[in-house]
Amino acid sequence: MNIGPHNLTNLCRLAPMAGISNTPFRLLCKELGSSLTTSEEISAKALVYNSERTYSLASYLPEEKPIAIQIFGAEPSDLAYAARIMEERGADIIDLNMGCPVPKITKTGAGSALMREPLKAAEVFRTIRKAVQIPFTIKIRGGWDDHHVNAVEIAQIAESEGVDSIAVHPRTRSQQYSGHAPWEIIRSVVEAVKLPITGNGDVRSYEDAERMQKETGCHSVMIGRGALGKPWVFDRNFTTLTPREQHEYKFRLIRRHLDLIEEHMNPKLGCVQMKKHLAWYVAQTKDWQETRKKIFTFEDAKDLRAFFEDYWVGAFVDRTVAWNAAESASEASI
Ligand SMILES: Cc1cc2nc3c(=O)[nH]c(=O)nc-3n(C[C@H](O)[C@H](O)[C@H](O)COP(=O)(O)O)c2cc1C
Repeated sequence: MNIGPHNLTNLCRLAPMAGISNTPFRLLCKELGSSLTTSEEISAKALVYNSERTYSLASYLPEEKPIAIQIFGAEPSDLAYAARIMEERGADIIDLNMGCPVPKITKTGAGSALMREPLKAAEVFRTIRKAVQIPFTIKIRGGWDDHHVNAVEIAQIAESEGVDSIAVHPRTRSQQYSGHAPWEIIRSVVEAVKLPITGNGDVRSYEDAERMQKETGCHSVMIGRGALGKPWVFDRNFTTLTPREQHEYKFRLIRRHLDLIEEHMNPKLGCVQMKKHLAWYVAQTKDWQETRKKIFTFEDAKDLRAFFEDYWVGAFVDRTVAWNAAESASEASI
């Protein structure tokens, strides 16, 4: 699918996730095949107030391009300012957050609260559209609650106001992230507008993504939680590897991720990120609950890395016996 001049060759791409979709994780997912990455949500108001921390959240490396910067806010003038500034600083796409369910954000009228006010949403779309030349996309929910499922209405307004593409997470704001994502809402948006549509919600594997595309007709698929501890979800070939190859591949990638964190984050924040991701990476490995607890006791990235390497190699040695047995059994049956 294309968003303006950007051709998204892989079906899957990384979803924006606050506290997670930062440079190291975006780069890793891009290297694994994510066809486009998006920053975490950036407060338009904070950019207006020149917040150094917010500018730092909105920063990225040249090798991440093309990149979409996601902004949130309720005031059209703030959003237009934020979009313009991000365009000036080299963003390739401006994405508007219309899905965030967090009360701190919705009570200001931003995030998913914008879905409740179609007229205001139209004004916001128009203002941002006028403010920038680069592609402008939105990420919406199914609606506010079960009684207000209006993704189709918002998508049609967006299309008429010149929005270039829409990502649909079909849960309502009231559902937050509970229950299952009703993919049929993605299908109804695909059928209602001519824009390229990205589906999102409960995709945990490349096969799920292909199923979502088949069932909804969406043109691309965003993966959020399914990439936590499993960024290889973007690599279609991962499942063709043997268990032994997969274990080695994961080790290589986790090390690459830790290197990227060390390279691009300050030591304190970097150590927090490492703990978070390593805790996801070790899920489903041997004694993982204990290992997770241990991971969170480290204060120093070097010690944490040394512990992890020992643990992973230990898990490899434990599994080798089983893999050797399985391989010789399959050779015997050939
Ligand atoms: C920890 C976390 C942070 C998130 N932050 C954002 C965000 O900044 N912007 C956004 O549009 N969506 C955000 N989301 C929503 C995801 O982009 C995605 O829509 C949601 O997780 C459902 O997709 P999934 O089932 O693939 O995880 C966040 C989700 C999680 C779990």
